[in-house]
Amino acid sequence: MKNAVAQSALAAGLYTAAVVAQTTCSNILVPAYSAPVVASGWQAQLVAGGLTKPRSIAFDSTGALLVVESGKGISRHRFTDNGGTCLFSNHSHMLVEMTTLNHGLALSDDGNTLYASSAEAVFAWTYDAKGASVSGQPRTLIANMSNSDLVTRTLLMSKKQNGTLLVSRGSAEQHSAQTEVVTSGLSQIRAFNLTNLTSNSKPYVFSNDGLVLGWGLRNSVGVGEHPVTGGIYAVENSVDGVQRNGKDVHENNPGEELNFFGYLNGTTTANQGKNFGYPHCFAVWEASEIPDNDGLGIGKQFAVLENSTLRDETCAEKYVPPVLGGRETAYVTFRGSFDRSSRRLPRGSIAFNAATGEPVAAADSNNALTDVLTQPRPHRLSGQVLQASRLAFDSAGRLWMSSDSTGEIYVLQRTGGGGWQVCAAPASGGGGSGGGAGSGNGNGNGGGNKNAAVGVDEGDDGICMERGGRSHSYL
Ligand SMILES: *[C@@H]1O[C@H](CO)[C@@H](O)[C@H](O)[C@H]1NC(C)=O
Ligand SMILES: *[C@@H]1O[C@H](CO)[C@@H](O)[C@H](O)[C@H]1NC(C)=O
Ligand SMILES: *[C@@H]1O[C@H](CO)[C@@H](O)[C@H](O)[C@H]1NC(C)=O
Ligand SMILES: *[C@@H]1O[C@H](CO)[C@@H](O)[C@H](O)[C@H]1NC(C)=O
Ligand SMILES: *[C@@H]1O[C@H](CO)[C@@H](O)[C@H](O)[C@H]1NC(C)=O
Ligand SMILES: *[C@@H]1O[C@H](CO)[C@@H](O)[C@H](O)[C@H]1NC(C)=O
Ligand SMILES: *[C@@H]1O[C@H](CO)[C@@H](O)[C@H](O)[C@H]1NC(C)=O
Repeated sequence: MKNAVAQSALAAGLYTAAVVAQTTCSNILVPAYSAPVVASGWQAQLVAGGLTKPRSIAFDSTGALLVVESGKGISRHRFTDNGGTCLFSNHSHMLVEMTTLNHGLALSDDGNTLYASSAEAVFAWTYDAKGASVSGQPRTLIANMSNSDLVTRTLLMSKKQNGTLLVSRGSAEQHSAQTEVVTSGLSQIRAFNLTNLTSNSKPYVFSNDGLVLGWGLRNSVGVGEHPVTGGIYAVENSVDGVQRNGKDVHENNPGEELNFFGYLNGTTTANQGKNFGYPHCFAVWEASEIPDNDGLGIGKQFAVLENSTLRDETCAEKYVPPVLGGRETAYVTFRGSFDRSSRRLPRGSIAFNAATGEPVAAADSNNALTDVLTQPRPHRLSGQVLQASRLAFDSAGRLWMSSDSTGEIYVLQRTGGGGWQVCAAPASGGGGSGGGAGSGNGNGNGGGNKNAAVGVDEGDDGICMERGGRSHSYL
């Protein structure tokens, strides 16, 4: 019944514990579950419900919201905008009906080409934003991506390098050994040049073409481009049920990783094209719970099973550790691992230093993340758990968030402090376990497309980077 979003005559927006002034907004949507809590200095509002597992969102050049509904297609929504977070959907329609679409969404620089992904391929449509329509059949640009288990392919169109499309592909978990070979195309992020495609060009084959930005990544669903430096960052959804030398250490390990993949402008960096450790080495979160933890701490990686050729030192030598680390802020959806006995926050923000373009917090920081929106009850209520899947900024600087588990869209706005600028890179993001999201969603979308549900991981994150001159203290 989760999509039975109630309407109430005069409900206030969602408040933080600290009272935030908010103008009233009539006929707002009210979630059919305990309302999420918004951090001080923020205001949030549910603005759409009843969607089928919304996985990615993006704004077109007219300001309409495009949504990938997994197993259904791409829908387009217009909102009557009364300012602040007071918005109402006034028109929605399916732009593309295509049941294999399950996650990725991007628009070209000029807004006239729409990209979306299935487990197997990346497609492109000629898009007329004013006419609210696509024309012709989709063209397959990148193909040969099918694998078992982790089947979302995050798409990110670079704003700094025109025509460069990033595609992130996860592991075929049961066959993780395959990921040790870069030509498998698994567990990696690649950059594809679309500017030189001609009408006769064959689709790129994911595992043969494109520039490898990083590999040894279990499932880096949240991918973002720093709006000033052009640095590419991704949030890694690391492994479930991790052990160390045979001992279960999964409750507080591994850590979530924010990884850096260098730039797309041809300047090489030490990290680009390197292996980030999966399936052998994982980020430390709670070192004290890891046996034989000499020299381990947050920001380091540990070997799952040490032997004579693979030790923590080997992890440090062969694989790239995460970075963490203003005035730039990355908004990240951390969905919380279902692998943990208590779930963490759906999303928060990480501050970036405006001058260096790097995260403010040190790599070994355990408090780089600031909550923005959290759900008061950490445990799973059947199907009523908000799971942030993707973030996007609109032209007014408001942050929009899709929740695939509840079929909803939220709008967030900062109320504390001055104006802020538009995110240069759209967000991307995460998953919801097929079972959980499907069964929880009252309109039965789980059965709509088996492919969409298969193996989509629940720990997926989204990242969106904002250009702006704000310190992170307000968050
Ligand atoms: C719906 O919203 C759009 C975008 O704000 C606006 O241009 C349009 O006039 C609205 N339509 C109606 C019927 O209110
Ligand atoms: C890619 O997929 C197509 C269609 O399934 C197939 O014909 C082709 O052989 C594949 N190419 C490679 C290199 O795997
Ligand atoms: C990017 O490409 C589009 C389409 O070819 C072009 O219109 C636009 O000017 C380009 N932008 C930049 C910054 O080069
Ligand atoms: C893409 O290809 C074109 C034509 O070969 C080239 O001019 C451009 O530099 C390439 N872009 C990137 C990011 O490599
Ligand atoms: C486009 O240029 C890139 C190099 O930037 C190259 O790797 C790729 O094969 C080219 N694509 C086509 C279709 O020629
Ligand atoms: C690429 O971008 C980085 C970071 O913004 C910059 O330091 C570097 O000079 C750029 N390289 C080129 C060739 O423009
Ligand atoms: C050590 O473990 C790694 C990862 O499982 C494995 O690839 C390697 O063969 C092992 N080395 C020895 C000597 O058993």
